[in-house]
Amino acid sequence: MSAAKRKKLLAGNWKMNMRLAEIEPFFTAFAAGLDAASRQQVDVLFAAPFTQIQATLAACRARGFAVAAQNVHFEASGAFTGEVSAVMLTDLGVRSTLIGHSERRQYFAETDESVAKKTVTAIKNAMTPVVCVGELLEERKSGSTFEVVGHQVEAVLTAVKNQGPLKDREAFYPGDLTDGLVIAYEPVWAIGTGLSATTEQAQEVHAFIRKVAGEILGNDFAGKLRILYGGSANPGNIAGLLAQPDIDGGLVGGASLKPGDFAAMCITPSA
Ligand code: PGA
Repeated sequence: MSAAKRKKLLAGNWKMNMRLAEIEPFFTAFAAGLDAASRQQVDVLFAAPFTQIQATLAACRARGFAVAAQNVHFEASGAFTGEVSAVMLTDLGVRSTLIGHSERRQYFAETDESVAKKTVTAIKNAMTPVVCVGELLEERKSGSTFEVVGHQVEAVLTAVKNQGPLKDREAFYPGDLTDGLVIAYEPVWAIGTGLSATTEQAQEVHAFIRKVAGEILGNDFAGKLRILYGGSANPGNIAGLLAQPDIDGGLVGGASLKPGDFAAMCITPSA
């Protein structure tokens, strides 16, 4: 499974940050920090809070960056106060969403089951789900990382397989930001802590995720699947991570709020 065919994807996760007035200045600075070669060689995606999506889309469209939501509901409409559906997002022109971020799992009771349902819904609506998985510190320490991550990946990909969208939709295959599936491996102990996984720790889990994906959805799928690393990724460690054969990009929180830092991270892969 050659990494050469997989285009790198750098995704910024703004979380509950970025006021409306900050968006245009952010992109002016971010775009100024990128070079022409990187723009061609790297896909760039910004996961914005719901209320900031339209302004983010307006800033990104002309500049060629993609926009994602940070969450989506699995039903199209109904009595779900406070939720936003995939059709509402696609009405706006949003073609991607994060699903199952560890903060959603930890603070908003997301489960493997809800993550699976949301992922299937996103795919059915021609959105690219960026599905987040990762182990807690206790799980890493007790040696159950592979079991935990394997279970999370299996739950979501088995649901995708059982729904049959792969059979119905040739274009489902990953590799195209407008129509695919991305997995983000984010060890929970590394998120926002400044304590990134080492390149070796990340690579071995990424390779494992690709193996599990291959067992469930076949090696053609797994070979094209983009697997991002997240958890204290920054301009200083991104190059080493992206040099690993199974690390296809980054899901970046804190550093994605700093336009200069995030631009530097998007340049690294093509350097
Ligand atoms: P971080 O967050 O880069 O600030 O660690 C990553 C994430 O939560 O997606």
